[in-house]
Amino acid sequence: MPAVIRAALLGLLLAWPAFAQPQAEPVGHGGPVRALAVGEAAAASGGLDQSIIFWGLDGRARHVARWHQGAVEALIAIPGAGFASGAEDGRIAIWPPMGGPEPDMVLTGHEGPVTALASDGRSIASGGFDATVRVWDGNGGVTVHEGHRGPVTALAFSDRGLVSAGQDGTLRRWPEGRVLAEHGGPILALAVFQGALAAAGADGRIHILGSRPATLATGPRPVVALAARGTLLAAAGPGGAVGLWDTAAHRLLRGLDGPGLPVWALGFAPDGNLWTGGADGRIRRWNSTTGRPLSESAATTAAIPEDADPDGARVFRACQACHALTAEAPPMAGPSLHGIFGRRMGSLAGYAYSPRLAQGDIIWTEETVADLFTRGPDVVTPGTRMPVQRLSEPSDLAALLRFLQTATR
Ligand code: HEC
Repeated sequence: MPAVIRAALLGLLLAWPAFAQPQAEPVGHGGPVRALAVGEAAAASGGLDQSIIFWGLDGRARHVARWHQGAVEALIAIPGAGFASGAEDGRIAIWPPMGGPEPDMVLTGHEGPVTALASDGRSIASGGFDATVRVWDGNGGVTVHEGHRGPVTALAFSDRGLVSAGQDGTLRRWPEGRVLAEHGGPILALAVFQGALAAAGADGRIHILGSRPATLATGPRPVVALAARGTLLAAAGPGGAVGLWDTAAHRLLRGLDGPGLPVWALGFAPDGNLWTGGADGRIRRWNSTTGRPLSESAATTAAIPEDADPDGARVFRACQACHALTAEAPPMAGPSLHGIFGRRMGSLAGYAYSPRLAQGDIIWTEETVADLFTRGPDVVTPGTRMPVQRLSEPSDLAALLRFLQTATR
């Protein structure tokens, strides 16, 4: 049964027309972004491509982890610590504050995909397709709560304690399992703000519980993600739109205006900017006051030499968050591509490669780099941490190679 519901949920998200559009450029993730968490010092995004990318708050990717054996379904920043991820493989991984290629700790027990996580800094709560809510106390102890009649879709620690939302349309408080509210359809997202709790889902409404209860109508389409900061509440639906609501006045302030919609996951950064991820696999940052996208981070765009091939520079934007072009650039998720042509695979000193790339059995030339992005890193170097991406347009590939020839010298 859970598998059926899961397929229906994914179908709901994937059926959206924007997803079917051809993607000309490779992207940060090799597929739609399903989960996003922004912490005090770093952010993490997870996708259907099974990878987690850890980002500096400046927008530079710092690490790529390909550890989960299934789509990454949930990510949280643990207050005062690192990140936790939950995935289709039923496992929960705990990551260091700036991320890394391997987790510090693994929690197992769920019998099915893990789809919801929350933390109050002391314990971690998880929920999944096995309909259970589990609370892990940090000392190896776990409490299993049963009550939902289907997958657990969202969790939050609020003033009222731990609250879970389910595909069964109920909102429950634990440990007692009392039903706080019952909605007509599946609840897909929760957010806590200023003593109140917001729940939203298939009915396209944001239900606010607390001292000033309210119902905000977002439209006929489901809401798939919520994030709150101060009196600002961001709500995303697969219809494409992200709305920014004022929870004090209970009114819509503005929508996000720019590329990258539909959005499936969102989070506020400490500086107030909103981060989003969605169907196109990219992570974007927005000014939440204007609703406009922030420009690419200065640190990465500045690295493009002025005489570089302009078409190639456009294609390289897909690589830029992870790869520097100079030898002295600060550490990023991928190795610097400085001097890449003629270089042996996996040989840049000081960079921690995956075992596959460390084998060093390829010399990077125009031909081998072209092959890497024609057949894809997953085919040419299976087991690599670089997210799956391909350049389907021969002209894009040629432009990228022209660009790399000058820019990596
Ligand atoms: C989300 C981050 C990310 C993106 C985007 C990305 N890469 Fe990578 N790349 C990596 C990582 C991580 C590695 C090292 C993988 C490993 O150790 O398995 C890597 C390795 C490589 C290597 C091998 C380098 C060596 O020293 O052997 C090349 C070449 C490369 N990438 C080129 C590109 C190009 C060109 C693009 C854009 C079309 C791109 N990458 C996009 C993360 C990324």
